Amino acid sequence: GIVHQIIKIKENHIINKNTGDFFNMSKREKWSSEFGFLMAAAGSAIGLGNLWKFPYLTGISGGAVFIIMYLILMFTLGAPLLLTEMSIGRHTKSNSIDACKKISPKWGIAGGFGVAGAFVILSYYMVIGGWVLKYMTSYLFGTIENPQQYFSDFTSSTAEPIIWLVVFTGICALIVNAGVSNGIEKISKIFLPLLFLFIIIIAVKSLSLPNSIEGVKFFLIPDFSQKNWISIFINAMGQVFFSLSLGMGTLITYGSYLDDDVNLVKNSLYIPIFDAVIAITAGFAVLPAVFVFNIPPESGAGMIFQVLPSVFNEIKFGRIFAVIFFLLVFFAAVTSAISLFEVITAYLSENRHFKRLTAVIMIFIATSFTGILSSMSFGKLSNIKILGMTFFEFFSFLSDKILMPLGGLLICILAGYIWDRVVFKNELSSGGKYKVKIFKSLRFILRYTAPLMIIIILISSWIMDLSD
Ligand code: PFF
Repeated sequence: GIVHQIIKIKENHIINKNTGDFFNMSKREKWSSEFGFLMAAAGSAIGLGNLWKFPYLTGISGGAVFIIMYLILMFTLGAPLLLTEMSIGRHTKSNSIDACKKISPKWGIAGGFGVAGAFVILSYYMVIGGWVLKYMTSYLFGTIENPQQYFSDFTSSTAEPIIWLVVFTGICALIVNAGVSNGIEKISKIFLPLLFLFIIIIAVKSLSLPNSIEGVKFFLIPDFSQKNWISIFINAMGQVFFSLSLGMGTLITYGSYLDDDVNLVKNSLYIPIFDAVIAITAGFAVLPAVFVFNIPPESGAGMIFQVLPSVFNEIKFGRIFAVIFFLLVFFAAVTSAISLFEVITAYLSENRHFKRLTAVIMIFIATSFTGILSSMSFGKLSNIKILGMTFFEFFSFLSDKILMPLGGLLICILAGYIWDRVVFKNELSSGGKYKVKIFKSLRFILRYTAPLMIIIILISSWIMDLSD
């Protein structure tokens, strides 16, 4: 309504005085449809976190107990933060750093964690993306005889994983360079529906294997004799953050390309629902197969590269299922990686005034370089340690355990304590167009629950990780 308009005009006036980039605002890109945004945002959320991390985290964290915690946290902590980030982005129509500055001039740092974190995540995410490409093509043109050996030979070699990593990064760079609606949105609208279809095929196949019921039981029946509740809880919380792409400026950036009349609350439910559905379907796809072949569910990070190939080798048409599986993992990885790419691209082009192409090339070169360090940490550089961690481990520690929670914490404080609540609520409701019944609870979560939980997590996970 009219009040909304006035508030917007006032805000723009302030923005104008603070940063002087009022005129750039009219040139900004937009999603071409709400569906396109939803696919892009769900694409960011659904990634290696769902397909690679979730099944093995469930495996090492005692199955159903972990899933229950994960689902509760997803909607009590994840969805509220997601909603908050989208609102900040749409309200300010800016990259993550400028967005936070526009909420409060000294708070650019809150978005800065995002830009830094996005870079650090890319530095190891791309390596796995490269592995996925390698496995996909291996099954396309042949097969993998001895998966354990194959995995360690491949990952510890130098040239090949680097080539695949650079190819993967190059694909992301091309998509991002094509633009928000022309690149990111278009690709997401194709990849995400295909991903849904493929994962259902794999899950159905997996559930139809004899004895798969053991995997389903492990997945669905909670084992309350668990002792390390705290570490299960920390894993679940970390997984919610990582899986929803929180604290990294992704949803601020994607939200900034949204129209003012899109219902944010609705979208903040759809995205976690899609994300959780895919994670759980991935569990059904991976864990039963693992049980059928008597492989311990705790087998860890190698699950999809070592364990699943052994399964593919045993079943009829295994090669076809393998190609479908790695293709879907590839779709998931690309749509997530481009969201990280876009966080940095938006910052470099809007705040630093680089051309989009220049920004993309800079990111491509920089992340290829750090990616090479990560990749080689499985081989030639495995002896180089930072705080006792290889490059790969260090990058993932730095982003998942430090930058992501800290970024999330600052966003909570910024939106919960500093952002004018009338303006915030007005943004959520699109100027009164939608009823927002959850505003009080949302503020409570942002002010108390979320910061407290994040701080507990930060402290305990540092203690645990560094004492490993
Ligand atoms: N959510 C992605 C996944 O589950 O694989 C990873 C990710 C993407 C994390 C974007 C953070 C981010 F900003």
